[in-house]
Amino acid sequence: MTGASGAILAERFLLRAREVAEIELHLILSPAALLTAQLELGKKRRDWTTLADTIYRHDDLAAPLASGSFPTAGMVIIPCSMKTLAAVAHGFSDNLITRAAEVTLKERRRLVLAVRETPLSLVHLRNMMLATEAGAVVMPPVPAFYAGVTTIEAAADQFACRVLDLLGWSHPNAVRWSGGDELGV
Ligand SMILES: Cc1cc2nc3c(=O)[nH]c(=O)nc-3n(C[C@H](O)[C@H](O)[C@H](O)COP(=O)(O)O)c2cc1C
Repeated sequence: MTGASGAILAERFLLRAREVAEIELHLILSPAALLTAQLELGKKRRDWTTLADTIYRHDDLAAPLASGSFPTAGMVIIPCSMKTLAAVAHGFSDNLITRAAEVTLKERRRLVLAVRETPLSLVHLRNMMLATEAGAVVMPPVPAFYAGVTTIEAAADQFACRVLDLLGWSHPNAVRWSGGDELGV
């Protein structure tokens, strides 16, 4: 988790991922993520510990996730700030989030960046292009309006399920478009 707005996206992703039995969750929060989570959800660091199997210090560059020898299925940065996007795009790995992302790319594993900013500058767009060229999936948290979601929580859940899809897991409650026949379109 980084300090872009949208701590609820991380919360709902962790909740939905925990419902998939095979998933082991390793969580890193940046200091800015802790700030936004406190502002947006009133959650402190200890509140996140129950949502993951392991939680790491942001500056713990000796953690298992800092090495490609530690097997992972992939990584999602959710929400992903423009600062962390820039670091990932340029291989500037001075904390455990950016180092783990670098490792994920070099090991050719799935890296999903739930980038959140609006509007986007040319710098942001260029960094998204660089990250995509390096193999990351840039996935802004844009609601699927056709999926009938009417609350922020439902939109965040739906987004979480799409991220899980990209990481190779299928959530049992994922909303799937089955065509517009019954709507007469
Ligand atoms: C309330 C709040 C909302 C923010 N929203 C965003 C945002 O949506 N996108 C973004 O790129 N940065 C946002 N920021 C700024 C980042 O937190 C800041 O750039 C920080 O240095 C990111 O560090 P990190 O990537 O290590 O978490 C926000 C900051 C605050 C306090």
